[in-house]
Amino acid sequence: MIRECNIDDIDLINQLGLLVNKNFISVYNIKDILDRDYECIYIYEENNTILGFIHIEKHFEVIDLINIAVSESSRRKGIASKLIQYVLDTIDHENFLLEVNSNNDSAIELYRKFNFKEINIRKKYYDDGDAIVMERRKL
Ligand SMILES: CC(C)(COP(=O)(O)OP(=O)(O)OC[C@H]1O[C@@H](n2cnc3c(N)ncnc32)[C@H](O)[C@@H]1OP(=O)(O)O)[C@@H](O)C(=O)NCCC(=O)NCCS
Repeated sequence: MIRECNIDDIDLINQLGLLVNKNFISVYNIKDILDRDYECIYIYEENNTILGFIHIEKHFEVIDLINIAVSESSRRKGIASKLIQYVLDTIDHENFLLEVNSNNDSAIELYRKFNFKEINIRKKYYDDGDAIVMERRKL
């Protein structure tokens, strides 16, 4: 099931966040995120175990995807897809934007599957690569 993250989930979100960014815990303060009304973290859980999360920001009609991660042993089972579809279905928006490391083939494939298009490249945006900016306009 998918539900909103709450304060009791912070430690597990921090663990999963390390799969996205080795500095996740110093860059993202989950408690502060939960306190902001324009940010949201949704988690995917099965049998009371958190297997993935998606963190988004909402600015007027634009959703920014900040992070998405799925535990390594649960990948390729459609969990990230369910999280993205949940955001698409539940949050009113016109545009959905994200940045992804150009080396991150699996994430790029995931976003293409949802019809995100590459609209820009930010050179050396990450320590280890360029960022591809991708956009999905609501049909
Ligand atoms: C990217 C990530 C979130 C995908 O999660 P997932 O639950 O495995 O994704 P899904 O099962 O929903 O996959 C959906 C589609 O994405 C693509 N995809 C996902 N993993 C892939 C891989 N390793 N290689 C190629 N394509 C892949 C495929 O098109 C897949 O569809 P298919 O299984 O029908 O072929 C996961 O690999 C992850 O947590 N990676 C580390 C964190 C990260 O890089 N996050 C993104 C940047 S914020």
